[in-house]
Amino acid sequence: MAIQEKAVLEKLAAIPYPGYSRDIVSFGIVRSVTCDGGRVLIQLDLGTGDHSVLRPLREAIKGAVSAMEGVDGVQVGTIGASDGLRMAAPNAPPGTAQATGLENDLLPGVHNVIAVASGKGGVGKSTVAVNLAIALARTGASVGLLDADIYGPSIPIMLGLADSKPAVDGSRQKLLPFERYGIRFMSLGFMVERDSAVIWRGPMVMKALEQLMRDVDWGDLDVLVVDMPPGTGDAQLTLSQKVSLAGAVIVTTPQDVALADAVKGVAMFRKVEVPVLGIVENMSFFCCPECGTRAEIFGHGGGKTEAARLGVPFLGEISLDGAIRDGGDSGRPVSVADPDSANSKTFGDIAAKVLEAIGPGDRRTGGGIFQRLKNGLKG
Ligand SMILES: Nc1ncnc2c1ncn2[C@@H]1O[C@H](COP(=O)(O)OP(=O)(O)OP(=O)(O)O)[C@@H](O)[C@H]1O
Ligand SMILES: [Mg+2]
Repeated sequence: MAIQEKAVLEKLAAIPYPGYSRDIVSFGIVRSVTCDGGRVLIQLDLGTGDHSVLRPLREAIKGAVSAMEGVDGVQVGTIGASDGLRMAAPNAPPGTAQATGLENDLLPGVHNVIAVASGKGGVGKSTVAVNLAIALARTGASVGLLDADIYGPSIPIMLGLADSKPAVDGSRQKLLPFERYGIRFMSLGFMVERDSAVIWRGPMVMKALEQLMRDVDWGDLDVLVVDMPPGTGDAQLTLSQKVSLAGAVIVTTPQDVALADAVKGVAMFRKVEVPVLGIVENMSFFCCPECGTRAEIFGHGGGKTEAARLGVPFLGEISLDGAIRDGGDSGRPVSVADPDSANSKTFGDIAAKVLEAIGPGDRRTGGGIFQRLKNGLKG
């Protein structure tokens, strides 16, 4: 049975306003409740009130509403959200969004931004980004995926959205992200003519990326996964300068040449003080579907060795698998098409490790998404 607005409102009426015995509904801060299937959107209006209550309120609301039967996602938005969030954590450590004031401007409702990057092209960043985002969403986190690869945006194809155009919310002049497989998605590819991007120069890339973050109605997200173009160029720098990244996942293949570039990627993120959440080794080995024999076509294990040498976590190894390529080409990623496959399970493990790594470091609010999910709270 679909969840009803009235039932949600009743639930909200049992939540006290922090520091008061009166509930948030009679306090008049609940502006709207919208139910769409199992997803619930709650808009709060804190007016000129104390915005530092926003974080505990969000947690309390998400906890109460996500426990209701029929609810599989809860978003808590605020009117004047960026102001509220900026004031939400006065004790935030230096280097966080509150200290830089940057992230709030571009991504007001996003709690953690993760870059999926590699030094070398074609190693499977987009594949990892898509499957990681889906696996993260499966844990109950609200997840967005931003395809920042202006030179070869491939995720629209991987999600079966190649010829789509995003809708615009005219009243707010915001682009609406697509919703697919439990994640919200937007691509730079939707903003440029096909094949024209190759002539874009650095400053244009930065501007487009910045615009994409600011002009998309991402809503309230626990994690935004950003699929980066290959290399250590303008897009990487823009992202690390403009938003406070929770961390970077580096993708490599086992060959020496890819590993050398992965090392460069790790070095770049370290230089700009972005934590490296770990290394994923893609196309790690091949299991013959006929006889089950394992072949290590590009060598094997270099990612793990390199991760140990660099002192960063090793997140997992994904095999070279026809189902992964098929999934990418057909618009149904392997995590959706075959969730019980070994690689899909590995993507699930990688998602858990990523959540654990960013857990205590929710840069926007100081709260730990991992802890929250561990406690069984969705959304
Ligand atoms: N483990 C895998 N098994 C089989 N095919 C794979 C695997 N990983 C990636 N591929 C395929 O390899 C190709 C390149 O992968 P992908 O687009 O994810 O790489 P990328 O690093 O994002 O590339 P680019 O640098 O161009 O952005 C795609 O066709 C994809 O389906
Ligand atoms: Mg790519």
